[in-house]
Amino acid sequence: MVSCDSRTYEEISDRTPVPDKVRYAVEVKPIVDANCIMCHNPGGSAAYKPLTSYDQVKTNIVSILDRIQRPNGDPQKMPKGGSLSPTQIAIFIKWNTDGLIEN
Ligand code: HEC
Repeated sequence: MVSCDSRTYEEISDRTPVPDKVRYAVEVKPIVDANCIMCHNPGGSAAYKPLTSYDQVKTNIVSILDRIQRPNGDPQKMPKGGSLSPTQIAIFIKWNTDGLIEN
């Protein structure tokens, strides 16, 4: 892994509470775009598993929830080489329980 490792994973959602209804377009996509798609796109190191569309993120939600909640230092933790904030992780969990709303 190269440049991604030294990133800090700061997000606007760190400063905002988890909303009543989490929506892909409003809360989830900005987190994925800032923390995942640099690898999870057709030209990235995880090209086999692109996360650039609603359907791709939705289809992989069980695996995503597993990977983002692994302990720091676990080689399978995502984002690789870093971590989402507790608020960002809570947004993914609530998006799933809210029914994976798109817009
Ligand atoms: C620095 C590059 C990089 C970043 C950033 C990254 N990933 Fe990954 N991801 C990988 C690689 C490489 C693999 C394949 C190796 C493995 O399974 O650990 C992978 C595997 C996965 C898998 C398992 C896919 C499967 O085979 O079913 C999931 C789910 C996943 N990543 C989710 C995420 C999410 C969500 C984010 C953002 C929060 C993220 N990743 C950020 C590189 C990255």
